[in-house]
Amino acid sequence: MSPYTVTRTLPEDATGAALRADVRAGLTASPKSLPPKWFYDARGSELFEEITRLPEYYPTRAEREILAGRAAEIARATGARTLVELGSGSSEKTRHLLDALTEATGLRDYVPVDVSESALTGAAEALLAERPDLRVHALIADFTRSVELPPTEGPRLVAFLGGTIGNLLPAERARFLATVRALLVPGDTLLLGTDLVKDEAVLVRAYDDASGVTAAFNKNVLAVVDRELGADFDPRDFDHVALWDRGNEWIEMRLRARRALTVKVPELDLVAHFEEGEEMRTEISAKFRPEGVDAELTAAGFAPAGRWTDEAGRFALCLATAA
Ligand code: SAH
Ligand code: AVI
Repeated sequence: MSPYTVTRTLPEDATGAALRADVRAGLTASPKSLPPKWFYDARGSELFEEITRLPEYYPTRAEREILAGRAAEIARATGARTLVELGSGSSEKTRHLLDALTEATGLRDYVPVDVSESALTGAAEALLAERPDLRVHALIADFTRSVELPPTEGPRLVAFLGGTIGNLLPAERARFLATVRALLVPGDTLLLGTDLVKDEAVLVRAYDDASGVTAAFNKNVLAVVDRELGADFDPRDFDHVALWDRGNEWIEMRLRARRALTVKVPELDLVAHFEEGEEMRTEISAKFRPEGVDAELTAAGFAPAGRWTDEAGRFALCLATAA
């Protein structure tokens, strides 16, 4: 068997159809919004990697610190022979888990799942160059829909790192966790990365960095809609906004129109009007409290089995068993 396979679990035109549906719904709603999964074309994936290296963006460093220190313990607790990773991106931090699982169980199968084909290909090429024995079964898929896993050996560990669960709204999170649970059998495990509630200034800085990389990432969604749907968004017409919603305990990213303007989306036969100062939501990034994470896991049919935080208590990794 080839050490690398790529499977598109969505029909060829599903991404286009989903983008069209999301853009139509988002631009005709009040307030306007666009879902964050459309940030991640090749440029968006690169910009996200740049974000992870910013001094203000602590989540990646905090999670890497936990994985570097605890991967062996986590690997032993799971006994996993297959690692599935949702929203795997560059798979950079995953190396700690792959090393520890190879040592603990002789794991050979890694199943990265992402909407970004460029991120999957780049990650797989780099991993296979380092680990010729690894079998990489890349899945181009939307993890909020049903994902079909390859028939690799159990037990399986599903890793969902980076705090990406925070990019889902609470109802979407509940549906997502139930879908993940349905993929697993008792004894399989989920490793969930969650960014924690902390000082507002630290949080806002992480999403509004001094060098403007997060602003470019935010505006990249406009470039995606322009390219894919022939729209005429001009990113210079919008300001990047990052604010802390204290009630919901999430960071919200928005794009604020600098002037009254009209955007045409020919592929949708749609014209959208923005008032001066009108804001369109492009992402939420929810921050968590340990008891809340446990409650959400339990409601989805998982039994919390371990929690680790970085030294500064900024980020948590939670291990849960499929009950
Ligand atoms: N896990 C990595 C990357 C996080 S960035 C880390 O911790 O650094 C979020 C990743 O999730 C991106 O690679 C993006 O392409 C992917 N993603 C976002 N929404 C998705 C969806 N609905 N389905 C599949 N992948 C998605
Ligand atoms: C992928 N996700 C967890 C990132 C986050 O922090 O919510 C995406 C991001 N948005 C702005 N900066 C990073």
